[in-house]
Amino acid sequence: MRNDRTQIAGYPIARLRRLRMTETIRSMVRETELSTSDFIYPLFVVPGKGVRKEVSSMPGVFQMSIDQIVRECAEVYSLGIPAVIFFGIPETKDEVGSGAYDEHGIVQETLRAVKREVPGLLLITDVCLCEYTSHGHCGIVRGNEILNDDSVALLAKEALTHAAAGADMVAPSDMFDGRVKAIRALLDDQGFQNIPIMSYAAKYASGFYGPFREAAESTPQFGDRRSHQMDPANSLEALREVAQDIQEGADIVMVKPALSYLDVIHRVKREFGMPTAAYNVSGEYSLVKAAARMGWVDNDRVMMEMLTSIKRAGADLILTYFAKEAANILGRSR
Ligand code: PBG
Repeated sequence: MRNDRTQIAGYPIARLRRLRMTETIRSMVRETELSTSDFIYPLFVVPGKGVRKEVSSMPGVFQMSIDQIVRECAEVYSLGIPAVIFFGIPETKDEVGSGAYDEHGIVQETLRAVKREVPGLLLITDVCLCEYTSHGHCGIVRGNEILNDDSVALLAKEALTHAAAGADMVAPSDMFDGRVKAIRALLDDQGFQNIPIMSYAAKYASGFYGPFREAAESTPQFGDRRSHQMDPANSLEALREVAQDIQEGADIVMVKPALSYLDVIHRVKREFGMPTAAYNVSGEYSLVKAAARMGWVDNDRVMMEMLTSIKRAGADLILTYFAKEAANILGRSR
């Protein structure tokens, strides 16, 4: 809805500052409104009881055992945050990531416990093998190759065990070809037609995942993720990735990371008009925390500015470690 600029009055008739003079008028003409209902809060589950261990590179983020996760989820829900996404760190890892598709795996048991105690919260699961494989790769490895089709079959199995344990939505984060289709087919076949898929559709091979790999204990033991995650230089390719996932049945498409890819978020939203999510990733969080600790930026101000920019770019949903802090601020301003 861009106006033809030649028809817009110029200075001194127009003075753009008129609508900036007070907070009241600013809030009345504000174009983007951040809301607590936009947020999805990521949580890391570890084995044990009473575990609440801070991730050193992510102040304020904790690895928690199931009992603590249940309490955390109750708090998240009471803040008005509608959804969480679970990442599981299993007791033992192996070559084929068995813990990922174990009916009684860590995420599956978490789902059962949280569903029972906090039934109103929407539970999303990250579907990937990297936290469950001994080599830290997202799929099955042969020699130096990360296999596509063999891995996809396991990811579908993983998604099915999540749905069976109470997941309300599954989110494949691997970036292998054809995984959305495989997951959709298996879920439908097993009676889970109504469980949506939020695909990590345009996920880049990014340096901003560094702190997450500490939190999820999923650093690859050799090589990297460049043979499946996207090259940061590409955006047309992101549109192909998204188009393909939509064709395969994705209900929500995600761009990840968020801040270095605001242009991609914008193009994806414009091109497809799909419910669009953006993952404000670990490195983006840690940069703010580190700078704020040094006294170099104001944590709350920078946080709200970043989250607003992600929404302004076109994201409907934001996965963010800031969810609780931002919800507190938004709640106070009501
Ligand atoms: C893979 C996965 C990753 C993240 C979410 N899902 C890491 C990776 O691809 O290496 C990163 C999230 C973040 O950095 O906050 N299971």
